[in-house]
Amino acid sequence: MNISVVGTGYVGLVVGACLAETGNTVCCADIDQKKIDGLRNNVLPIYEPGLKPLVERNQDEGRLSFTTNLPEAIGSAEVLFIAVGTPPGEDGSADLKYVLQVASLIGRHMAREMVVVTKSTVPVGSAPKVAAEVAKEAKFPFHLCSNPEFLKEGDAVEDFMRPDRVVLGVESPHARRVMSELYAPFVRTGKPILVMDITSAEMTKYAANGMLAARISFMNEIANLCDKLGANVDFVRKGIGSDSRIGQSFLFPGPGYGGSCFPKDVKALVKMGDACGVPLLVLAAVESANERQKKVLLDKLRRALGDKLRGARVAMWGLAFKAGTDDMREAPALTLIEGLLEEGVSVCAHDPAAVDHARALLGNRIDYAETNYEALSGADALVVVTDWNEYRHPDFERVKRTLKQPVIVDGRNLYDVEKMRELGVQYHSVGRPSA
Ligand SMILES: NC(=O)c1ccc[n+]([C@@H]2O[C@H](COP(=O)([O-])OP(=O)(O)OC[C@H]3O[C@@H](n4cnc5c(N)ncnc54)[C@H](O)[C@@H]3O)[C@@H](O)[C@H]2O)c1
Repeated sequence: MNISVVGTGYVGLVVGACLAETGNTVCCADIDQKKIDGLRNNVLPIYEPGLKPLVERNQDEGRLSFTTNLPEAIGSAEVLFIAVGTPPGEDGSADLKYVLQVASLIGRHMAREMVVVTKSTVPVGSAPKVAAEVAKEAKFPFHLCSNPEFLKEGDAVEDFMRPDRVVLGVESPHARRVMSELYAPFVRTGKPILVMDITSAEMTKYAANGMLAARISFMNEIANLCDKLGANVDFVRKGIGSDSRIGQSFLFPGPGYGGSCFPKDVKALVKMGDACGVPLLVLAAVESANERQKKVLLDKLRRALGDKLRGARVAMWGLAFKAGTDDMREAPALTLIEGLLEEGVSVCAHDPAAVDHARALLGNRIDYAETNYEALSGADALVVVTDWNEYRHPDFERVKRTLKQPVIVDGRNLYDVEKMRELGVQYHSVGRPSA
């Protein structure tokens, strides 16, 4: 099939590369000239495991191309994915402006009957607005489809290639047939393609992110209570996760959720509830619990260093909002860094992928280290913020030797409390006894 994807960010690039990988001819379009120039030379604007070889191979073999010429991309498409950003507006609701801009261009430049797919996460009830915008100048019939994306940054290629499910919101047999055909190669192991009405598909995306964010905030609160009452959240997590009604995933406490999706989607969902007179009390609490959680590591550092915190130097392992990505959007590290700088603390951070993005946001307000050990030099404490694999088994003797004093605040519960005690490290994690 001839596919075009408008918006070549974390989602659009993965969608485009994976659809090319199954033999489609895919054109990825974006207004960002620098991004497109880079991609044409196989320089990826994002870090995402497994994505670069897909882009290289499919571009080499002529199935994948990149352009800033949106009219051309629209004109050649049988199926067009809208994958532009839907950032939060000032009041927290998702801003549909970029989606509608693209919809308007589609109407103007479409050259045949086509399926118009909203891949961006759009507020429930957006489809009629998108349809109206396309219809203003459309000279051919078009079929709307809401196809929310559930990929996780850091596992995006794997998630797209082997999805747990594909959700298709459609209102015509043509859209249903074309989209089911397009996704068939990805669900050969029997994972379902769930076909539903468009409004329900739009709602499914928000409900999924709301539920996942709720699990994280719930566990963070339980972990904070464990801290106070002397329980160990590792035991509690396994104890509840073995209940088949609960399950083990998404039960790890930490420094709060971040990224481009959970914070903005929870806010947008709360806004939607308010707007239609159904206040979402649980999700409003999920959001405030998360805001509070982003301050927990600073509190722990304050307790560990006492009045020596002011003027101290802290080594930070991890800047990205999670491992496997360079995405710094709403990263808990940013809240922690602001708090530390306000307290007169200097920060030296390491991250295997996110330093360029961090530097764009923070400039030289903090120092950046080439290696995680280099960050420790002259530091009064180490704080672990992101659960990158390479931080899981460090050389602790070297860590102890390099830090000015052996203090570790571990926001991801990576290390064994008993082992830290044996090593003589002052160790604080989230919801577990200190050493
Ligand atoms: N990042 C994720 O993990 C994820 C997962 C599922 C869904 N989503 C949703 O997918 C959408 C895209 O997210 P993302 O993280 O890929 O965003 P992103 O910011 O990484 O990428 C958006 C891209 O769209 C381009 N763009 C903006 N306006 C444009 C226009 N008018 N024409 C052409 N290109 C334009 C931008 O230049 C940018 O490259 C959002 O709605 C998001 O909520 C994201």
